[in-house]
Amino acid sequence: MDHFTLIGGEMHAENVPLSAIAETVGTPAYIYSAATLERHVQVFRDALHGLEHDGQAPLIAFAVKANPNGAVLATLARLGMGADVVSGGELARALAAGMKPDEIVFSGVGKSRDEMAQGLAAGIGQFNVESVEELDMLSAAAVEAGREAAIAIRINPDVTAGTHHKISTGSASNKFGIAYARAMEAYARAASLPGIRVRGVAVHIGSQLTDLAPLEAAFGRMGALIGELRAAGHDITHADLGGGLGVPYDPALPVPPSPAAYGEMVRRATKGWNARLTFEPGRLIVANAGILLSRVILVKEAETPFVVADAAMNDLLRPSLYDAWHHIRAVKPDGTERTFNVVGPVCESGDTFATGRTMDRVAAGDLIAFMTAGAYGATMASTYNSRALAAEVMVQGDRFAVVRPRQPVEALIAAEHLPEWLEG
Ligand code: LLP
Repeated sequence: MDHFTLIGGEMHAENVPLSAIAETVGTPAYIYSAATLERHVQVFRDALHGLEHDGQAPLIAFAVKANPNGAVLATLARLGMGADVVSGGELARALAAGMKPDEIVFSGVGKSRDEMAQGLAAGIGQFNVESVEELDMLSAAAVEAGREAAIAIRINPDVTAGTHHKISTGSASNKFGIAYARAMEAYARAASLPGIRVRGVAVHIGSQLTDLAPLEAAFGRMGALIGELRAAGHDITHADLGGGLGVPYDPALPVPPSPAAYGEMVRRATKGWNARLTFEPGRLIVANAGILLSRVILVKEAETPFVVADAAMNDLLRPSLYDAWHHIRAVKPDGTERTFNVVGPVCESGDTFATGRTMDRVAAGDLIAFMTAGAYGATMASTYNSRALAAEVMVQGDRFAVVRPRQPVEALIAAEHLPEWLEG
């Protein structure tokens, strides 16, 4: 459910006509709906009812990588969300947006010593450690900082997530986590290290999951591990179940399991765990709260005509990188359809959003919207082909604000310096 709907023949973001935004801000531009963000948080929270621990609701730590825009993060912080960060940059953004340090989880296979120090200085709630080597590094960083690092160890449960191979993380061959078979050894080491306080377990098996069975299998293994760890004397009070629940992209496909069904499964799988749960949803919260607004530069007639949009793979990489499917709609549909290839202006054939797509008929100058672009959209943008980063806009009710101005090309050039031998 989102708030991008047709009102009087034109797509609006909440109550704002998209043409009004395009006129003021130009295209391409990412548009986020605050009401949709709020709704998604509410739906997810409702789905987790009954999972309180000691009267405390689970921690929902938004995966900042999905959308690190400051206005998005500030909206989520006000709704009481924590953050899952994977770099010093994301940590700085989460703190700047007002997320509480003790509600921040630091994930990732390669935190640098500086990033560890940054997390320790901020007093973050938990480090999710992914290797024994990292345990040693974190211990040294904590001792140096005179702080204690509360940790969970991310376990690789060796399940097949059934998603695109580039975003699957829970198989033994992936770089993520410590193998289940080595977990006890890793926890024993953690317990022996100064500056480290073992508090939990963590798991995340992949993204855009459309089947709950692999998640349930992974959680089952975590439940068994919690029992073994406690029997070995570890004080396990926390369990981080990661993110990964998929969202609908293609309206022709069956919808992925609902948050409510996910919550039901979690209640079943975690029964008797007696631990505070953390969730790290990214896509679920922001994907359908954002679109990429673009203008058709021209329609090139061919056997299958090419819609050449002013947005390109540098703005929205998912179709090029994962063959991802995004619904493409006309902002002012005339009720007729045509079959197009939809491409951007970048000079490679991979700059293709859709091939042989039957969609709203559009012509040069028309506005189009790439739907479900709020997650892993702007955040994965680059300036390839020296195309400046798109503007980002947030809508709330009948108002909108530019939350990241379009980057001028001059800024790209000004950021560089000539070596002295080329000056003058
Ligand atoms: N927690 C961890 C440790 C993660 O690695 C991720 C995503 C998440 C949480 C959030 O997962 P989500 O709920 O958003 O599925 N760029 C790709 C997605 C990469 C996901 C990476 N990790 C895409 O555009 O599909």
